[in-house]
Amino acid sequence: MIVVFLGPPGAGKGTQAQRLVEEKGFIHISTGDLLREAVKKGTELGKKAKEYMERGELVPDELIVALIKEKLPEEGKVILDGFPRTIAQAEALDRMLAELGKKVDAVVLFEVPDEVVVERLSGRRVDPKTGKVYHVKYNPPPEGVEVVQRDDDREEVVRRRLEVYRRQTAPLVEYYERRGNLVRVDASKSPDEVYGEILTKLGL
Ligand code: AP5
Repeated sequence: MIVVFLGPPGAGKGTQAQRLVEEKGFIHISTGDLLREAVKKGTELGKKAKEYMERGELVPDELIVALIKEKLPEEGKVILDGFPRTIAQAEALDRMLAELGKKVDAVVLFEVPDEVVVERLSGRRVDPKTGKVYHVKYNPPPEGVEVVQRDDDREEVVRRRLEVYRRQTAPLVEYYERRGNLVRVDASKSPDEVYGEILTKLGL
């Protein structure tokens, strides 16, 4: 089963994916996490991606498609989080899956207003050791866990990421709607409510 998580930055895609991994055995593939790891390790991909990410812009399609080709598992229930993000990426994904005799089974669109995004991202903290995501107000890290803030969670970069989402990624809503496999969730609700809605809409 291949599920795509689509939605603006800070909509809660990573948070919900984490829970589906823990409770339902999904494999989580986040292009954002993979790119951050590449930047940290200083690989060729990381060196090329760094400046785009710092500006809140998209990394070029060819780099992302090559990355997914390498990471896409042939078996299992997979969540693609943050990929595809352009029509060209969606078409490349369709071709890749067709070669494996598969297709995108469902696309979950996380709908959330901009003000909520800005509040969530300014409060987001990450445990660099485990990659677990917290929020200073809505999901504070346990005592003793040292957390850091992501470089691209500064307000001006968040606003840029929202613009980029609207211009380059939002057209995917129509792309998948036409195929009839898009479901919408109200991502402004609590994490438990959003999780429940995802399970219902995916029939899990
Ligand atoms: P990426 O890492 O994918 O960032 P994003 O899409 O902007 O998504 P986020 O990780 O910011 O948000 P999320 O929806 O996962 O929210 P989260 O669960 O953390 O991409 C980063 C960069 O990499 C891009 O800008 C681009 O440069 C590059 N990139 C990545 N993929 C690419 C691609 N395919 N093509 C080209 N470039 C690519 O939640 C946010 C916060 O809110 C957390 O603190 C969380 O605790 C809290 N929270 C979550 N849910 C709730 C809730 N229901 N109620 C209250 N708080 C909540």
